[in-house]
Amino acid sequence: MSPRLSCLLAASVALGGWASADFTPTVSGTPQVLGNVTDPTIDRDSCTSVRFGDRALWTCRDSQPYDSNGIPTLPVYSSSASWTDFNSSGQPNVQIGIQSAQGDQYGLLCYGDNNQKPFFPIISSECSDNSAGVCSDGTRYAIWPDSPPLVTEADINTGAVAAYTWIHQAHLTPSLLSLDPDPPATLYRINYTPTSSASDADSSALPTVTTVNNNFWTAGQLSYGVYGGVVSNGTAYLYGQNTAGTVGLAQVPAGSIEDQTAYQYYVNGAWTSTAPGVNDTGLNIENASAGGQGTYYFSSVWNLFVWIGQASGGLGADFYITTAAAPEGPWARPTKFYSGESNGLAYSLQANPSLLTNSSENAIYLTWTASNNMGYYTTLAYVEWES
Ligand SMILES: *[C@@H]1O[C@H](CO)[C@@H](O)[C@H](O)[C@H]1NC(C)=O
Ligand SMILES: *[C@@H]1O[C@H](CO)[C@@H](O)[C@H](O)[C@H]1NC(C)=O
Ligand SMILES: *[C@@H]1O[C@H](CO)[C@@H](O)[C@H](O)[C@H]1NC(C)=O
Ligand SMILES: *[C@@H]1O[C@H](CO)[C@@H](O)[C@H](O)[C@H]1NC(C)=O
Ligand SMILES: *[C@@H]1O[C@H](CO)[C@@H](O)[C@H](O)[C@H]1NC(C)=O
Ligand SMILES: *[C@@H]1O[C@H](CO)[C@@H](O)[C@H](O)[C@H]1NC(C)=O
Repeated sequence: MSPRLSCLLAASVALGGWASADFTPTVSGTPQVLGNVTDPTIDRDSCTSVRFGDRALWTCRDSQPYDSNGIPTLPVYSSSASWTDFNSSGQPNVQIGIQSAQGDQYGLLCYGDNNQKPFFPIISSECSDNSAGVCSDGTRYAIWPDSPPLVTEADINTGAVAAYTWIHQAHLTPSLLSLDPDPPATLYRINYTPTSSASDADSSALPTVTTVNNNFWTAGQLSYGVYGGVVSNGTAYLYGQNTAGTVGLAQVPAGSIEDQTAYQYYVNGAWTSTAPGVNDTGLNIENASAGGQGTYYFSSVWNLFVWIGQASGGLGADFYITTAAAPEGPWARPTKFYSGESNGLAYSLQANPSLLTNSSENAIYLTWTASNNMGYYTTLAYVEWES
C-alpha cells in the first residue's frame, strides 16, 4: 500500500469509519416469503406499514369490499387502513388459514373498521361526492398515499400516536394519465389514542384522520414528504420528487410539521428557508433513490439512512437499496439486492422497518403489490443482511 493511500484510509477511519459510498449491503442466506398481507373482507392496492404502539398500521390505496362471491365490488374507496398484530416474540404474527375471497392464505391478517369511507378524506375540490374521487367528466382525483405515515409523536405511557401523510392531488384522465405533472399536495394528520380498557386491546377502531392543509405544497412547489420521510434525532427529513425525477429534501423539527415557516430546504448543497420552485436547479440529491416508489428509514445497525424501493420505470419486484450517512448524502449508487415473484407487474415496493422486533435486528421486511384475476395482493418477505 502506498503511504499516501494508507494515510487517506487512516483519515477516513478517523472521520468515523465507513462513508456510505463504501458500504454495499449484502443479503445473508435466502430471503423468505412469509405470505400475504391479507384483509379477508377488502381487496386492497399498494399498502405501506408503520408501527403504532404494539401494532402495525397499514395504509393502502384503492380498496374494494368483496361481494358474497368473492368478487371486488363497488364502491371503490381511494384509501383504506388496517391493523396487523405482532406475536409473543415481537415478530409479525404470520398465521395460516386466513380465509380470504382469494382462497385459504397464510400471512398477516389485517383488520379494522373503515366505516365505509376513504381513510384519507377527499377534499371538496377533488370530486368528493363519491369515495373514489371520480368526477362527472370521467377524470379522477386519485388520493393515493405513496409512503407510510410519518410518526412524529409516540407517547409510551398512553400509547397515543401522531403521524402525518402528504398526498398529491393527482388528477388523472380515465386512462390514468396525469393531467397535472406536479400537482399540489395535501397534508393529513393521523391521530390514535388506544382505549384504556385492556379488553379493547384488539379493538378494530382505526386512527382518525384530519386534513391539516388542503394545499400544503402548491402546484409550483416540490411536494416534500410525498416521496417519503424519516424522523431522526427530532428532525423530520422529507423527500419530494418532481415529475422529471428530481428528488429534493426538506427538514423541519418533528414537532413543527404543520408550521411552514419552520421548514428548511436543501438547495445547491446548503439549507435555506426559502421554498424553491418545483423545477429549480440545485435541488436534486444524487442517488437518494433508484427513481421509483420506496421507503426511507434509519438503520441503527449500520448507522446509516436507507432507501429501499423500485427503479424508475421498473416493472417487477426488483428491490434496490442505497444508503447515506446523512439525509442530504452523499448517497451510494443504488444496487439491486432482491427480486420477488409477481404475476407480471409489481409495484408499490416498500421496506417495512416498523415490523422489525427491535433496532438491532439486522434484517428488513419487504412488501410489494401484484394482481391476478381475483384482485390485488400484497406479498411480505424477510431479508437478512450480512453483518
Ligand atoms: C412469531 O412469528 C414469527 C414469524 O413472523 C415466527 O417465526 C415465530 O415462530 C412466531 N413466534 C411465536 C412465539 O409464535
Ligand atoms: C398470496 O395471494 C396470491 C393471490 O391470491 C396467491 O396466489 C398466493 O397463494 C398467496 N400466498 C399465500 C402464501 O397465501
Ligand atoms: C443524533 O444526535 C447525536 C448527538 O448530537 C449525534 O451524535 C448523532 O450522530 C445524531 N444521529 C444522526 C443519525 O444524525
Ligand atoms: C416543471 O417541469 C415539468 C416537466 O418536467 C413541466 O411539465 C411542468 O410544467 C413544469 N412546472 C413548472 C411549474 O414550471
Ligand atoms: C451516483 O450515481 C451516478 C450515476 O447515476 C454515478 O455516476 C455516481 O458515481 C453515483 N454516486 C455515488 C456516490 O456512487
Ligand atoms: C431483537 O430482535 C431480534 C430478532 O427478533 C432478537 O433475536 C433479539 O433477541 C432482540 N434483541 C433484544 C435486545 O430484544
